[in-house]
Amino acid sequence: MAKGKVLLVLYAGGEAAREEPRLLGASENELGIRKLVEDAGYELVTTTDKDPEPTSTVDKELTDTEIIITTPFYPAYVTASRIARAPKLKACITAGVGSDHVDLDAANKRKIAVLEVTGSNVQSVAEHAMMTILVFIRNFLPSHQMALDGGWDIARCAQHEYDLEGKVVATVGAGRIGYRILERLVPFNPKKLLYYDYQPLPQQAVDKLNQASKLYNDVDKIVERVESLEDMVAQADIVTINCPLHAGTKGLFDKKLISKMKKTAYLVNTARGAICVAEDVAEAVNNGTIAGYGGDVWNVQPAPKDHPWRKMHNSWNGGNAMTPHISGTSLDAQKRYADGVKQILTAYFTGKFDYRPQDVIVIDGHYATKAYGQKK
Ligand code: NAI
Repeated sequence: MAKGKVLLVLYAGGEAAREEPRLLGASENELGIRKLVEDAGYELVTTTDKDPEPTSTVDKELTDTEIIITTPFYPAYVTASRIARAPKLKACITAGVGSDHVDLDAANKRKIAVLEVTGSNVQSVAEHAMMTILVFIRNFLPSHQMALDGGWDIARCAQHEYDLEGKVVATVGAGRIGYRILERLVPFNPKKLLYYDYQPLPQQAVDKLNQASKLYNDVDKIVERVESLEDMVAQADIVTINCPLHAGTKGLFDKKLISKMKKTAYLVNTARGAICVAEDVAEAVNNGTIAGYGGDVWNVQPAPKDHPWRKMHNSWNGGNAMTPHISGTSLDAQKRYADGVKQILTAYFTGKFDYRPQDVIVIDGHYATKAYGQKK
């Protein structure tokens, strides 16, 4: 008789997982946790069947699940109604970063712990955001398409091609990912790096960016905190979103805020899809209110086939740089978040509960982080 049940919800790996054992985030490879779970006397149930609520395998297994583990890439949404149907649930673990797929207030009411592997893929996401910024600025996507299609219309490609040097880049959220993007931008010699966050960057972190800018580009004071989001987006050639999804950021980029952006500006979102209003973004890209939108996060995952971001485009700006949610799940990142999940499970199974403090999102009925809108 098992001590309890661990429910693991991951995407199907199929042929790719058979070819590549390092795809730890695929259901076939189970984050490499089966032995650890079974040695602790628990049963491990792995499924890809998470939707729809309330008829999926996840819903059927919930009744006697003690720990649920999922990734943000293919999340099992742990809604208030699912929590109500999971009387034994004690912990939700995110294999990755970002636990908005759990109703955190509902978890708090039941004193369910929500834990994630903080920092495990922040470098991966920063790289993806940098790639998306460059893909836009260099007008890569339409130009690459032209190369494939046999064309040679240099003027059409160059009509919307710029250098990142001399541009203003702004981040909404300057935590682990936002800061890493700022760090990676400095060597490109931008005109200004702006950030909007209710938590100011530590002075040491600001000094580091300014010193690097002085070193690389002989430019002082490259980074500036802006108090008003509207003012910040109005100044930027590129806006990148790097804050968590919570009540204060859901639908933040709507028609009104997007209308403050420059017509030539690009919006890059690798944080969470629902921070933007999907229809408003698609309309803005399609009608040229902004030059493009890119990233990898969608308001529902998997995104439906007819999601407006699959089709949005404006003619020659390469207005759509979307991918499925892959930025935080490189093979390197999978190793890090799988190791992190093992560490969290070990802390749980041994009864020591000695989690890394930064991995704890909510515990014992309260928020343990300030990142989800907890300003004090
Ligand atoms: P972090 O906790 O280090 O930083 C988040 C920052 O956002 C904090 O400084 C916080 O004060 C700020 N923030 C919160 N609400 C804000 C608001 N209303 N306006 C401005 N700033 C606000 O988190 P980290 O590691 O940088 O990750 C950020 C988010 O990126 C995660 O919550 C997750 O949603 C997303 N993410 C996406 C991944 C992907 O694969 N695409 C992978 C990892 C994270």
